[in-house]
Amino acid sequence: MNNLILIAAIGKNNELGKDNKLIWYLPNDLKFFKEQTTGHPIVMGYNTFKSFPRLLPNRKHIVLTHRDEVEFPSEVDVFHDKNSLLESLKQYDGDVFVIGGASIYTQFLENADKMLLTEVDKEETTADAYFPSFEKEDWESTILKENEDNGIKYKHLEYRRK
Ligand SMILES: NC(=O)c1ccc[n+]([C@@H]2O[C@H](COP(=O)([O-])OP(=O)(O)OC[C@H]3O[C@@H](n4cnc5c(N)ncnc54)[C@H](OP(=O)(O)O)[C@@H]3O)[C@@H](O)[C@H]2O)c1
Repeated sequence: MNNLILIAAIGKNNELGKDNKLIWYLPNDLKFFKEQTTGHPIVMGYNTFKSFPRLLPNRKHIVLTHRDEVEFPSEVDVFHDKNSLLESLKQYDGDVFVIGGASIYTQFLENADKMLLTEVDKEETTADAYFPSFEKEDWESTILKENEDNGIKYKHLEYRRK
């Protein structure tokens, strides 16, 4: 049995990205992301997959897309619908991370046991991708750590479904 965890960095208005890139450069958050996800399967949408310059080491990449799997490196697991992807996750024990982007968080929020949200104390009016809104009362939240990079303050929060 696995634990499905959404992991994302969001602005004050749930901003996630712009032009298929992250908005803020936060090296300590990238380190946090690496520490959390290394050794675990990572689920992503096609746009997020395309936003990486290369495969992330030591993580099974699972991509949701309408494209043919011949377009992907052989080590990537490709799915064309959410249900068959969820079915295949049953083979994993332990943590499975949903790493974005916006469309994937929106679809998998209902299946998540936990969320690790980096809440950035900034706004970006030109963002074009947003994390879905969710009912805070449905989740038990804990601040894991306060952090700062390049003068930008942010907090790592864990949300566990009540
Ligand atoms: N701040 C963060 O933590 C964070 C994390 C990740 C991403 N991001 C940002 O989020 C943005 C990308 O989000 P996005 O919503 O545009 O893209 P996305 O969720 O990464 O990918 C969307 C694509 O995935 C495929 N897809 C989604 N649902 C599907 C389904 N049910 N069946 C089959 N294919 C499906 C489709 O690809 P095709 O139709 O093309 O095959 C769709 O166009 C970027 O700006 C990125 O930098 C931010």
